[in-house]
Amino acid sequence: MTEARIPHIFVTGASRGIGAAALTALEAAGAKVCGHATEKSEKIAVGADLNKPGGGRRAWRAALGKLGGRIDVVVNNAGVYEALPLKTDEAEWLAQLKRTLRINLLASAEISRLAVLHFQEQGGGRIVNIASRAAYRGDSPDHWHYAASKGAMVAMTKTIARGYAAENILAFAICPGFTMTGMADDYLESRGGEKLLADIPLGRVAQPEEIASMIAYCALEAPASMTGAVLDANGASFVR
Ligand SMILES: NC(=O)c1ccc[n+]([C@@H]2O[C@H](COP(=O)([O-])OP(=O)(O)OC[C@H]3O[C@@H](n4cnc5c(N)ncnc54)[C@H](OP(=O)(O)O)[C@@H]3O)[C@@H](O)[C@H]2O)c1
Repeated sequence: MTEARIPHIFVTGASRGIGAAALTALEAAGAKVCGHATEKSEKIAVGADLNKPGGGRRAWRAALGKLGGRIDVVVNNAGVYEALPLKTDEAEWLAQLKRTLRINLLASAEISRLAVLHFQEQGGGRIVNIASRAAYRGDSPDHWHYAASKGAMVAMTKTIARGYAAENILAFAICPGFTMTGMADDYLESRGGEKLLADIPLGRVAQPEEIASMIAYCALEAPASMTGAVLDANGASFVR
């Protein structure tokens, strides 16, 4: 592959879990990958807190710099899954709801907007948004905000796909069910572990590498006609 042809990919939330697995899978597939997290580290070239105003813009601009001014694919993966009981003090409940929406949805929208504008200039590109089974099925009573953020992310993905397909800009959403990362570990524990597994016909939660392989497919191989697709990965625990 000549340097000009190597896909340049920006992955948010790549310090651990699904994002870290995606970074590894994409690099193994030959892409030049720029990873992001709250803080920079040895493997993470871009640090930006997506909870802060303008965090998405800062992350995008830094990634563009690291990737030599060309990004072909953006993977919006960074996200939080934080319990928010209904009886939380009202001001605090609202503040926490806004935090989840800022990180999971608004930052992805901000980055997607900059990506579409960039792709329009360079003649195309791909966006891969990591949503959740919760987008379709809903989530627990402590996670209204999380389900809302992911449902909106799916709607945004479809809108981008429909709006810019003619300009060779493709958009995909992936909806994992429980995936064995830190987040899922906490969740499994808080939900009694084995009982939750009984609700998954496959008998286990997903592995981050499984979701990473779907990300790599959408980023590098999926045919253009697939744009707007939403891919499920939940062990048949929610079949649409
Ligand atoms: N695991 C599951 O069961 C599951 C199921 C469905 C969907 N998903 C979705 O898949 C994606 C990845 O989940 P995961 O389980 O792999 O998560 P994870 O292991 O908790 O990692 C989350 C990533 O997002 C980054 N992040 C969180 N808050 C941030 C902020 N304010 N600013 C910048 N970066 C931030 C983290 O960076 P730091 O290291 O700097 O904190 C980390 O790299 C999320 O969008 C999640 O909603 C996960």
